[in-house]
Amino acid sequence: MISNPLILGIETSCDETSVAVMRGETLLSNVISSQIEIHRRFGGVVPEIASRNHLIAILPVITEACEKAGVAIHDVDAVAVTYGAGLVGALLVGVSAAKSLGYALGVPVYAVNHIQAHIAANYISSPDLKPPFLAIVASGGHTGVVRVDGPNSFTAFDTTSDDAIGEAFDKVARALSLPYPGGPEIDKRAKLGTPCIEFMAHKKNRTLSYSGLKTAVVNYLHTKEQRGEQIDINDVCASFQKTAVDMLVDVAVDAVKRIGINTVVLAGGVAANSYLRARLTEEGKKLKLDTRFPPMSLCTDNAAMVARRALDMIRENLPPAKLDLNAVSYLKIGDCYKG
Ligand code: KG4
Ligand code: ZN
Repeated sequence: MISNPLILGIETSCDETSVAVMRGETLLSNVISSQIEIHRRFGGVVPEIASRNHLIAILPVITEACEKAGVAIHDVDAVAVTYGAGLVGALLVGVSAAKSLGYALGVPVYAVNHIQAHIAANYISSPDLKPPFLAIVASGGHTGVVRVDGPNSFTAFDTTSDDAIGEAFDKVARALSLPYPGGPEIDKRAKLGTPCIEFMAHKKNRTLSYSGLKTAVVNYLHTKEQRGEQIDINDVCASFQKTAVDMLVDVAVDAVKRIGINTVVLAGGVAANSYLRARLTEEGKKLKLDTRFPPMSLCTDNAAMVARRALDMIRENLPPAKLDLNAVSYLKIGDCYKG
């Protein structure tokens, strides 16, 4: 494979149809067609509707990404696609498109682990970033700290014992009748409130768990309703967000101290959260850490991160996918496609 391959990345794991084009480490285009408006009226992603809309969007988005990058589809040297984790029907659209393109163009297809791609987004915004570093993974499906020791070495620890942090944001938002997706809405509302409600006693060195916090918020809302008392939604958002984020930052700071790796990056959709970014910056200054986080557009699901992850897979001689590549609903953070 040439040193600066032209990679076309495809991402369809949930409700964003995204295609990106990269030449080596240079991002040429990153088109994201979001289905948020379609799913909003249902209060969350409806898997079957997501698959159908990926089918409608995928070819126009591929065309637009090539046009924006100023390349022809025949120039592409490799195709990269998220094959898991995610919604199987949604993933299948991207996987089928990638395999068809790879077969038609006679180029290899790289099967990318979605969470590894979220971490790789940091290489786009920080080209000088090199392992070893710790990644705080905060997405809709995964939460925890990942030690990255090399381009293909991802070791997860201190992961959540139940719900992921993004899932908790979305569930709490739903309980508050806020629109989907809940994370950005809570982030916005929290800025207008004060974190004056104690949902869970703050314990240092606790393990990550979000199910109990979500239940504590729901119980608080029910009790208030039963008593006919007013609920200040902004205060609930600020209090929930502070508890959820502080828990993650405490665990990450503890990991930094234990492991002695001073470079810390954020990854996943919740990395877009303003309070999480502020807290990490603050802790970074206190502990003299090198902290990085991708711009908003590279935090939530996008295909640029998929193409960038594939670049490392190519450089490390990982095998391209066979034609029987299938979508996988659950992958561990460290899982790499083996053929
Ligand atoms: O990483 P992601 O785009 O999808 C998965 O791989 O799961 O993460 C989606 C999650 C959703 O739960 C969404 O509510 C959350 O990221 N999110 C946020 C913010 N923006 C997106 N959570 C908190 N604050 C935000 N600003
Ligand atoms: Zn994601």
